[in-house]
Amino acid sequence: MVDYSVKGQVALLEVNNPPVNALSTAVRTGLRDGIAKASKDPKVKAIIICGKGQTFPAGADIREFGQPPRAPWLIEVGDSIEASLKPVVAAIHGTCLGGGLEVSLFCHYRIAVKSARVGFPEVNLGLLPGAAGTQRLPRLVGLPVALDMITSGRHVTALDAKKYGILDELVAGDLINAAIKYAMSVVGKPLMERRLRYKQVPGADKAREVCEAAMAQVKRKYKGYEAPVECVRAVRASVDLPYADGIRMESELFKQLNASGQARAQQYAFFAERTVSRWSMPNGSYRTAKALPVKTTAVLGAGTMGTGIAVCLLSAGLPVILLEQNEKLLQNGLRTIKALMEGSVKLGKVPMEVAQKATTLLKPTLNYEDLKDVDLVIEAVFENLKLKREVFGKLDKICKPSALLCSNTSTLDIDLAATSRPDKVAGMHFFAPAYHMRLLENIYGTKTSFMVEEGANPYEIDQIMEDLGMPMGPFKVRDLSGIDIGWRITQEVAKSLGTTITKETKYLGGERYCGIGDDLYEKGRHGRKTGLGFYKYEKKGGKISTPDPDALDIIEAYRQRRGIVKCKISSQEVIERQMYSSINEGFKILEEGICTRPEDIDISWLYGFTFPKYLGGPMFYASRIGLQKVYERICYYHENFPLKQRDCKDLRRRGSSTSGVYTMYPALGVVINSYCD
Ligand code: 3HC
Ligand code: NAI
Repeated sequence: MVDYSVKGQVALLEVNNPPVNALSTAVRTGLRDGIAKASKDPKVKAIIICGKGQTFPAGADIREFGQPPRAPWLIEVGDSIEASLKPVVAAIHGTCLGGGLEVSLFCHYRIAVKSARVGFPEVNLGLLPGAAGTQRLPRLVGLPVALDMITSGRHVTALDAKKYGILDELVAGDLINAAIKYAMSVVGKPLMERRLRYKQVPGADKAREVCEAAMAQVKRKYKGYEAPVECVRAVRASVDLPYADGIRMESELFKQLNASGQARAQQYAFFAERTVSRWSMPNGSYRTAKALPVKTTAVLGAGTMGTGIAVCLLSAGLPVILLEQNEKLLQNGLRTIKALMEGSVKLGKVPMEVAQKATTLLKPTLNYEDLKDVDLVIEAVFENLKLKREVFGKLDKICKPSALLCSNTSTLDIDLAATSRPDKVAGMHFFAPAYHMRLLENIYGTKTSFMVEEGANPYEIDQIMEDLGMPMGPFKVRDLSGIDIGWRITQEVAKSLGTTITKETKYLGGERYCGIGDDLYEKGRHGRKTGLGFYKYEKKGGKISTPDPDALDIIEAYRQRRGIVKCKISSQEVIERQMYSSINEGFKILEEGICTRPEDIDISWLYGFTFPKYLGGPMFYASRIGLQKVYERICYYHENFPLKQRDCKDLRRRGSSTSGVYTMYPALGVVINSYCD
């Protein structure tokens, strides 16, 4: 796990634990023994720690977190590195993260190749750097940089790391040769001043203001997450306490976080993200599939989704032809795309060069003929089957045979696209906002509006769900997506069922139908785009939402028309009805074989609905509550409310059995699902 060799007068400790050289027990042991061996060897004048293969160690071995801890502790290994009487140089390439960065901070010197990145991503796993990182980084770079890196988890380029003072030198060419040369150049220099534990944190006199501002910021930016808050506390201890006491406090906070449900959920999400990328279908898998080259693209429709999709493609450096039905709408779309690109640059999500290049990559048109050479078309016109069939008919005639013709439809059957090339037709369902959400495809939405029908206030529901950790409540999301889109979708559903929706429609396709959205739609309240929806906004297309008494009047008038007596719905019930219907649907999806693993569903929610990572996803959340309890509550709602919860055999079977239904997720040692009968 750690290869030991001596090159001239330098001992080389190469961590060899692919794929990311995680600091497993064996690696920690190897490092400790390597330092001891090199210290005793009179030929050795300096020591280098580096990583074999792809990278410097990218952190502690996350798979060990759920298991009983085993010595040697990383911090003890670090202490022995720092105490070495021979200079120790970290030679960094790849990603030097978490415990890896902590190891390097125990070394007396750090050099790196320009492509390397360093960071403390522990916060993304619900943790803080637990091997002295919170005490040593501030001593090296000061509080502002340390707080930013530790609370954000961001990766820092080698260039920036050099600027901050984390790296002593950037090297070109062969890293090991450069490291040997560097190590020999520091032999004999005093080591005491290189030992970070003895340093004072620079700018300590401003610690109170800086830490209080950081605390306020993380509470706002990472609302609901425990780890960023504890990160700030631990970093502050680097100023307030002597080194040894700061280490004790860091260790306590680390243990506390690691035992929390949030860390479990976030670590589950880390592995789930990687599990779902290993997809497999009857006709192929991630191993056998080969990506088709896409060099040119076209987007049809420059509304909410079309503009967002165009920004996505442009941000990836792809040329986009944007087609609309008339000049005015086309120009509107171009203005929106420009504003979205500018916003992305401001937020640091898209580099300025990419945004500038985008202006040359975007070609507006009203003419289908311009699409004849594109490799990929994404259609985002109104949700109307007749219109979409017409559009696909035109595309089929004009586009080259190899072009992929995709629809962003929310609900329509892709097989109805009616082209001569069904093998080249696919659904490509983006989530709004398309340039921000990582998910492409959908799982079933919610049925929350029923609760409003019965008496709940949409603003209270949004608040309850936001308090649970959702970045936006379901009604803000509906305003964002467009109430008109919901209206068009239900019109199409009704059409496909051979019926029409009227003011009196109470059931559609056997499910309870709620017409509040229709009433808002008829009053021109289409959501953010019109400045009015469930909320009112500061302007058309605005983002600042305020509750609107007019919307409540429309809802109340609706209830009266339907003879619905308003009743009070508790926060617990809101959460249960919102979450459990989704969990039930999740089991339904598994039962129907649409997805094969609960991780697929959880990741869809994490990416598509920005579900809080600290809850893991709805399926993980269900496992924490207990499937038995979830099942009983679903049955209760099914029996006591007009809401039609689809009964799921799978959940019933798993929920009602008392033994053998829960399995331990092997890596984390937490209960996540019921997948062993
Ligand atoms: N421990 C255990 N396994 C890890 C790991 C880690 N720290 N980091 C990555 N892996 C595994 C992944 O699960 C994956 O395994 P799989 O192939 O079986 O699915 C494999 O290594 C490759 O990972 P990726 O697919 O993510 O590879 P990439 O090249 O895309 O990314 C990476 C590499 C940037 C290093 C990314 O894996 C990553 O961000 N890893 C997590 C880094 C991290 O969080 N480090 C901090 C750990 S906590 C810590 O150090 C605590 C300390 O303060 C005490
Ligand atoms: P939108 O109403 O904002 O935009 C549709 C655009 O298509 C309009 O600008 C319209 O002028 C244009 N258009 C209509 N006919 C056209 C034609 N023949 N040629 C070129 N352009 C034409 O609608 P939105 O929200 O962008 O939805 C588009 C599609 O995306 C729909 O199928 C919808 O179901 C789907 N969708 C919507 C989501 C949302 O959150 N709004 C999410 C995911 C999918």
